[in-house]
Amino acid sequence: MTVAQWLERAVAFLDERGVPEARASAEFLLAEAMGAGRAAVLARGGQPLDDKVGHRFWRWIKERGRREPLAYILGWQPFLDLRVEISRDCLIPRPETEELALECARLLRESGEAAPKIVEIGTGTGCVAVALARLLAGATVYATDVSAAALELARRNALAHRVQDRVRLIREDMFSGKPGLRGWADLVVSNPPYIPTRELANLAAEVRREPALALDGGRDGLDAVRAIVPSAARTLKPGGTLALEIGARQGAAVLSILSAAGLAQARVKKDAQGRDRMAFARRAAE
Ligand SMILES: C[S@@+](CC[C@H](N)C(=O)[O-])C[C@H]1O[C@@H](n2cnc3c(N)ncnc32)[C@H](O)[C@@H]1O
Repeated sequence: MTVAQWLERAVAFLDERGVPEARASAEFLLAEAMGAGRAAVLARGGQPLDDKVGHRFWRWIKERGRREPLAYILGWQPFLDLRVEISRDCLIPRPETEELALECARLLRESGEAAPKIVEIGTGTGCVAVALARLLAGATVYATDVSAAALELARRNALAHRVQDRVRLIREDMFSGKPGLRGWADLVVSNPPYIPTRELANLAAEVRREPALALDGGRDGLDAVRAIVPSAARTLKPGGTLALEIGARQGAAVLSILSAAGLAQARVKKDAQGRDRMAFARRAAE
């Protein structure tokens, strides 16, 4: 069978199973199986496909047909300019988190601090920590997660992008209430689990494959935010910034949690699709 015939067979297979964006999935998986880019899949359509490559491709197509997320099958996902290794222990990075990371980098550049100290809570793959370390040459990122498997993946991503010396990984439970050092961080950033528990069952099949630990924000989705905000208010130095990714309907509730913790200049920022998806506040300068 030719490359084009394998592709068409796979698209029909995925379409029958209701897989969203079946053609894109099939093209990415075929390119990965061929060890080439997507352009090669299209350019080599008339050529026969090696049997071994075809079998590998079909095994992945069957997984995708069972609604396994594409990134878990590929084992990687782009995040800004980085190729981030992915595993089933971690959330798959989302585009709105890329926006959060870019806004954090912009704010830190604007602050003029040449060697900012950053805390990331719930680092997962390490995508935000690694991206910030790459974007800000003088920065050190203290990235925490409660999941040992996530921290191991973050370690590999930091190493792959050569920022292992400036991304310190710490196993810590954000609910432990440990007081920690006060007043030293320029930025605390988190994309916490923020989906209300009762909404988890209604998520797309692919999202339900992601770890509940990374998604479940408790009854109203804000358990993690209520833990992070007061602890960040202590950790930040005067003038330092807290940056959170939030659910699209959580803006007002998050703003009141930020203000109740005594943080200043609380604001919500929209993502590229016009949804309230980020919240920022600052510890008032003394
Ligand atoms: C929404 S994911 C974010 C992952 C990554 N930072 C990103 O933006 O793609 C939330 C992360 O918080 C971690 N997490 C969940 N509960 C935690 C806890 N109690 N303490 C620390 N981290 C926790 C999860 O393991 C997961 O990696």
